[in-house]
Amino acid sequence: MNAPLKIGIAGLGTVGAAVFQLLEDNAGLLGARLQRPVTVTAVSARDKRKNRGIDVSKVKWHDDPVALADDADVDVVVELMGGAQGAAFDLVKKSLAAGKHVVTANKALLAARSGEILDLLKNSKGTLSYEAAAAGGIPVIKTLREGLAANNINAVYGILNGTCNFILSQMRSTGRDFPDVLKEAQDKGYAEADPAFDIDGIDAAHKLSILSGLAFGCAPDPGAVRTQGIREITSEDIAFAGELGYRIKLLGIARRTPRGIEQSVAPCLVPTSIPMAHIDGAENAVCIDGGHAGKILLTGAGAGGNATASAVVADIADIARGCADLPLLGVADPQKLESADINARTGSYFLRLTVLDEPGVIADVSAILRDCNVSLESILQRGHAPNQPVPVILTSHETLEGDMLAAAAQIGKLKSSVEPPHLMRIETFESGYVS
Ligand code: NAP
Ligand code: HSE
Repeated sequence: MNAPLKIGIAGLGTVGAAVFQLLEDNAGLLGARLQRPVTVTAVSARDKRKNRGIDVSKVKWHDDPVALADDADVDVVVELMGGAQGAAFDLVKKSLAAGKHVVTANKALLAARSGEILDLLKNSKGTLSYEAAAAGGIPVIKTLREGLAANNINAVYGILNGTCNFILSQMRSTGRDFPDVLKEAQDKGYAEADPAFDIDGIDAAHKLSILSGLAFGCAPDPGAVRTQGIREITSEDIAFAGELGYRIKLLGIARRTPRGIEQSVAPCLVPTSIPMAHIDGAENAVCIDGGHAGKILLTGAGAGGNATASAVVADIADIARGCADLPLLGVADPQKLESADINARTGSYFLRLTVLDEPGVIADVSAILRDCNVSLESILQRGHAPNQPVPVILTSHETLEGDMLAAAAQIGKLKSSVEPPHLMRIETFESGYVS
């Protein structure tokens, strides 16, 4: 047996505690598979006295997580604190400078600072691995960077945030309201420390930009992802979508177009006839549409301690085997992402209006749609409430996103419109995907 691989863990929350426990529970299995023991030698978190359900009494405790970088008894620093600034970056920087290997699940850090990380790696004997930074327990980084290395990827898309998928599925299947289900997602350890990152689509945008970077050989650029979250989704939207044969999913989509790479995160209506519609709870689904391999759909737990720990330990296993030294983003020299204007996207749309039930309203709405080049596919109104607000649901034929946005903005200004219109894409993944 070779010498033990010594692990230091910074952050003992949902993921850190699960990694600690997994390394202890499966120590024998890992030792046999890797031909060397993997041992946690040091840990760090903010509060030493917190009960975390794990026994850290036999390992060294550092009050300052950055001290793990200087600990001679640590070969691999596992960063599980989170955040693009502060202790997480300081630890990564110092650990790489000290020649240690780094494993992280921190998508915010990678999405925002891959350029700095690449510079640090150039001068380091260490490596940086991040399987857990996208889609939790699903091995999507390995699939893209290694399994699909031969392919020219056209698109990578899917459900990338477990918290949002949990909220949307629970609202649909149980009728519970948004804040109540969000609280449960937090209790289950799915949500980010600040759950706004989840529900405003920011976390999914971070993950999408990382997957996009790997798929297209460019530096992640979360600022180039048009991002919309799920705060405005109501149980009415979910019910109307169901009546029309759709489910609502927060989708991240990055695809190659003749105009550049188009990237967005937005709640979309997905037909119930396709598998993506049936990914429920904290599950994620990532579809990679690529050249010779065709379409590959990966599904599995997208959040939660155990699944994420599996991905973190997979990275540790690569280090133990000596095969973690891969280009961070799949290519030696990632290019600047050429971003396509998403207003030029074409597709169908769902528009929920809340308008007064009075004569002439639909005529005014139709005139705006006509003037914005939007062709209607269907219109649905339930109930009758003279001079009271009622929901009206419109679906469009294929149209430009920019035209649809302009129409929704103008409809929102009508006197009869009592709430801002709510616009969502209908995403069938059938048209407009370069192949
Ligand atoms: P968490 O439960 O909030 O845990 C964060 C841990 O980091 C806590 O133990 C906290 O210490 C410690 N910490 C934070 N700031 C610190 C500092 N300045 N110094 C020392 N310790 C500090 O978060 P998590 O859910 O485990 O997520 C950790 C990372 O994994 C994040 O980057 C997240 O985005 C990523 N991730 C999470 C999931 C998931 O399902 N939760 C999935 C994939 C990736 P105390 O406990 O003492 O407060
Ligand atoms: N908060 C994230 C989610 C954790 O809900 O998907 C997994 O990255």
